[in-house]
Amino acid sequence: MWPKTITMELLLDVIVILSVATTGLSVTPSFNVLQYGAVGNGQTNDSPAFEKAWKAVCSSKGDISKLIIPAGKTFMLKPLSFNGPCKSKYTYIQVLGNIVAPKTKSEYAGSHINTWLGFNSVDGLIISGKGTIDGRGSIWWQQPCLGNPAPGTKCRPPTAITLNRCNRFQWKGLTSLNPARSHITLTSCNGGTLSNLRLIAPGTSPNTDGIDISGSTNIKVLNSYIATGDDCVAISAGSSHIKIFAITCGPGHGISIGSLGTRGETDIVEDVHVYNCTLTETMTGVRIKTWQGGAGYARNITFEKIKFVRANSPIIIDQFYCPNRVDCQNKTQAIRVSDVTYKGIIGTSLMDEAINLSCDQNVGCYNIVLDRVYIQHAVPGRKVYSFCHNAHGTASHTKPSVKCLLK
Ligand SMILES: *[C@@H]1O[C@H](CO)[C@@H](O)[C@H](O)[C@H]1NC(C)=O
Ligand SMILES: *[C@@H]1O[C@H](CO)[C@@H](O)[C@H](O)[C@H]1NC(C)=O
Ligand SMILES: *[C@@H]1O[C@H](CO)[C@@H](O)[C@H](O)[C@H]1NC(C)=O
Ligand SMILES: *[C@@H]1O[C@H](CO)[C@@H](O)[C@H](O)[C@H]1NC(C)=O
Repeated sequence: MWPKTITMELLLDVIVILSVATTGLSVTPSFNVLQYGAVGNGQTNDSPAFEKAWKAVCSSKGDISKLIIPAGKTFMLKPLSFNGPCKSKYTYIQVLGNIVAPKTKSEYAGSHINTWLGFNSVDGLIISGKGTIDGRGSIWWQQPCLGNPAPGTKCRPPTAITLNRCNRFQWKGLTSLNPARSHITLTSCNGGTLSNLRLIAPGTSPNTDGIDISGSTNIKVLNSYIATGDDCVAISAGSSHIKIFAITCGPGHGISIGSLGTRGETDIVEDVHVYNCTLTETMTGVRIKTWQGGAGYARNITFEKIKFVRANSPIIIDQFYCPNRVDCQNKTQAIRVSDVTYKGIIGTSLMDEAINLSCDQNVGCYNIVLDRVYIQHAVPGRKVYSFCHNAHGTASHTKPSVKCLLK
């Protein structure tokens, strides 16, 4: 029987594991990229074939239309957009084989290269499988630009995969390797779960965030392994109701809220729960970073049951964020930070300063709660301490002690 109140997670498992007959949903029709001329030898540009296959699957009507990327093959794709809206309730991409990016930057020429593989306005998108997506990003890491940009031009390498305006998505399984920039970016998506992912890039690779979430609501990131060069998960402006559960992070820059309020922007992030995560040898741990001069707020953010293993700077609130140290003037405005709870946190810090709550003199941070936070130095015999400026709230059962918070 098909339960009336089935959740998206359950739905995916039902589709993948149980037979169609027991769900009452029919996975029809089904398309295979090989039927559309994809070669899968790792050399041939398979983008035209994928484009044709996508058109077919997206325009077919049904409960679930399925696109199969078969096992045992490697498909080379140039930058490609998979655009909706699609006709089926769910569009299911089963990634059993591998996908690789072009070997040279010139193969990106002529395309709008903010992203390598982009999904736009596809509601009910389901991506799952054991395949690997290799962004071959190392060609971008040293020199981010394509061609010879004018001096002073700021250019960004492409994100590997972007989901833009994709509501009710489900993404389970898959490995992403070596993206040119972030592995996965979510923009303006409402409702979605990412789970059982492996996102891998060298700790030294620049700007390779694991998962960037912006302008999105009701997003869950679960049971995933992220070892990368920048934030494992970054939650930025316009995001709310975000759950980050059971993530293993490191190397990387930890789990971050922000940065918010760049160039005086009004930004809002709220209702975030980060639970049961382990951060190993990350550059920072759990961090909230906001620029001077911004407006808006970051509130109701809970970090719970987090374990640090030799993390640099495990706990940070920074209302003076200014990474390149240019034009770092203090302004009269700042993003308000409030209702931030850290509870059940253990582990070791590589830096002496394990906790740094640096809040703005005018705006400050309110209702910051530390409860059962025990951080020791990674080097036996050395002591950790905390730093605190204009942070208000309470601390209980916490070591190192945080002097500006009430006991
Ligand atoms: C916590 O996360 C680990 C993976 O790091 C997982 O095996 C375990 O089931 C999770 N526990 C809870 C209570 O969510
Ligand atoms: C705080 O966020 C959680 C989700 O993490 C949500 O369930 C709760 O309702 C929020 N609390 C308030 C007061 O909005
Ligand atoms: C901004 O304010 C902080 C806290 O009062 C202070 O430590 C810092 O030196 C100031 N920075 C500048 C550039 O004035
Ligand atoms: C804490 O963070 C602030 C803001 O980024 C930084 O200026 C400061 O050096 C850090 N540590 C201490 C001990 O103030």
